[in-house]
Amino acid sequence: MSVISPSLLSADFTRLGEQIHLVEKAGATRLHVDVMDGHFVPNLTFGPLIVEAIRRLASIPLDTHLMIEKPHRYLKQFVEAGSDTVIVHIEASEDLGRDLAAIRKLGAAAGVAINPDTDFDILRPYLASLDYLLIMSVFPGFGEQAFIESTLENMHRAVAARNDNDYLIAVDGGVNTSTIERVVATGIDIAVVGSGLFKAPDILQRFRDLQD
Ligand code: DX5
Ligand code: ZN
Repeated sequence: MSVISPSLLSADFTRLGEQIHLVEKAGATRLHVDVMDGHFVPNLTFGPLIVEAIRRLASIPLDTHLMIEKPHRYLKQFVEAGSDTVIVHIEASEDLGRDLAAIRKLGAAAGVAINPDTDFDILRPYLASLDYLLIMSVFPGFGEQAFIESTLENMHRAVAARNDNDYLIAVDGGVNTSTIERVVATGIDIAVVGSGLFKAPDILQRFRDLQD
């Protein structure tokens, strides 16, 4: 059984508290927060100050997806802002083992994200030190992109490689009512949904549709 993790990138930030409460009421058990630096990805969002505000608005755990170069520079700030999981990109980290250990030492769950064109095998040495694995099903940077079908292979590989390791597998990008069935059929745990949820005319109903 997979869960839906709403990605706030597509939420209406003028009514952020309301939107968070709505998805919590719908049954969401974790929120996805996208941090972009304009370097690792060609888009900018926000930093720890806003994550801290989201923390105060939400009562469910926050998974903070860092799309930033050299993420080790900011891990402490994002944990202190209230992130329950901090996710770094393998493509952006100088030393993934060090970054994962640092996140855990700070008291948060350690996550890694992998881009559609990165070979899954480079993650293998780190699978035992992971709490959360984020398979990107679009190239990071923007919401509302089309799901990349070939990333289903990474989902299958992540599920097959789990064995005795104890990490959650999440999928991020282009997940909506048309694609979610194929995504959850791979056996992943968490489907991150941004525009496919927040752009719906009835968010509560859409959450139910996605979950069924
Ligand atoms: C993309 C972000 C996603 C984004 C997904 O770079 O990491 O979390 O919010 O948005 P949708 O669901 O619209 O593809
Ligand atoms: Zn994301």
